[in-house]
Amino acid sequence: MGKFVTFEGGEGSGKTTQIKLAADWLRERGIPVLETAEPGGTPLGRKIREILLNRGSCAIGAEAELLLFAADRAQHVRETILPALAEGQWVLCDRFADATLAYQGFGRRLDAAFIRTLNDFSTCSLKPDLTLLFDLPVEAGLERAKKRTAGIKPKAAEDRFEREDKELYKSIRDGRQTQLLLPYFKSFLFHGRIREGYLSLAAEEPERFRIINGAADIETVRREVCHHLTALL
Ligand code: TMP
Repeated sequence: MGKFVTFEGGEGSGKTTQIKLAADWLRERGIPVLETAEPGGTPLGRKIREILLNRGSCAIGAEAELLLFAADRAQHVRETILPALAEGQWVLCDRFADATLAYQGFGRRLDAAFIRTLNDFSTCSLKPDLTLLFDLPVEAGLERAKKRTAGIKPKAAEDRFEREDKELYKSIRDGRQTQLLLPYFKSFLFHGRIREGYLSLAAEEPERFRIINGAADIETVRREVCHHLTALL
């Protein structure tokens, strides 16, 4: 059985860059690795991802959104993750069930107990051996995400999640809201609740989670990730 490692964090936390570096590091050590992501780790998942992230013409309520993430995961676990682990591959997954608790539970305020039951169903009760949580202040992450999508057609570039809270941050930057009020706003904001949610999930399961400072430079973060992977080897 291979090891299952998940990479979690808010927008622009650097996890996607780090997953590639971690996969290279493991391959150099002769370990077979599968890099995958949610939503979108299977052909069905890629269709669901399009619906979920994209601006599209139809509304998506919080409940439908939750079930679409669960459908993506149910297919991903059965079609991709479990077979790879059974072959002895290490599976590095960009977001997994914790993302649903953080985004749909803390972010959208859907019922956490129901999400846990749904996660259990969609994952066949599979739990990661290790979860790396890339933590950084919300504004810094959204700023990075904005840079990443700069130059792409504006409406096509940012996804539905990146657009959340945008107006408030813009009004603060433009001086229409005072910076001093930001800490007060934070717990009301979607992305602020997600960050707090992830940190509380990490506190609940300290043996599984490692919190990494996502604001550090790429090489510093890479070394820390490799250090945690070494402990699993
Ligand atoms: P990403 O590929 O940039 O990580 O985009 C996926 C988006 O979907 C991101 O904003 C987080 C969100 N998401 C959820 O809201 N719930 C989930 O369960 C997952 C896996 C992702």
